[in-house]
Amino acid sequence: MRTTCKFCWALTTTLVVGVLFVGAWYFVRGNVTEGDDGRTSILLTTGERDFVLTEMRGLLEAVEVITFELSEENMDGAAAAARSVGMGSAGGEPVTLIAKLPLEFKKLGMATHNAFDALATEAEDMGDGSVVLGQLSGILTNCTSCHAGYRFDIAE
Ligand code: HEC
Repeated sequence: MRTTCKFCWALTTTLVVGVLFVGAWYFVRGNVTEGDDGRTSILLTTGERDFVLTEMRGLLEAVEVITFELSEENMDGAAAAARSVGMGSAGGEPVTLIAKLPLEFKKLGMATHNAFDALATEAEDMGDGSVVLGQLSGILTNCTSCHAGYRFDIAE
């Protein structure tokens, strides 16, 4: 009986550690494969891909409004557009989707939302258009580097 229980405990511990390890590994790596164009392909369901792409189009629309408002020297308008895609807009993603995104992807995504908040604060506080434009240029580097490294595909 005692031996059986020791064995049970050993088995349970191994299983728990194993599950945690696989979970952590999955969280870091995401659900990915090598894309046919050399980029890392993130495998999602159709609904998940639609969700992320909708968010992406929202980012581009914010960039559109920010550049327009900067050209009009309307700092409050630029700040409002940036704030709408800041950290306050993040977090609506389902956990199942977040788990499929590689850690690097999540970090770059969060950094991008944070950078929009920083741009909003700069526009509100200082209102220096060229500084804000420089920040926007830095944000666009996040967009292009992520697009160069990742794509979405539908999991079979
Ligand atoms: C953390 C990664 C990441 C960041 C940061 C990112 N994107 Fe994307 N975006 C993607 C991926 C992946 C796709 C899908 C590309 C593909 O499948 O070829 C995409 C697609 C898009 C699309 C296409 C949407 C559609 O309906 O097909 C737009 C527009 C877009 N992104 C805009 C932006 C803009 C603007 C920014 C920066 C403000 C940005 N993205 C930042 C990862 C990112």
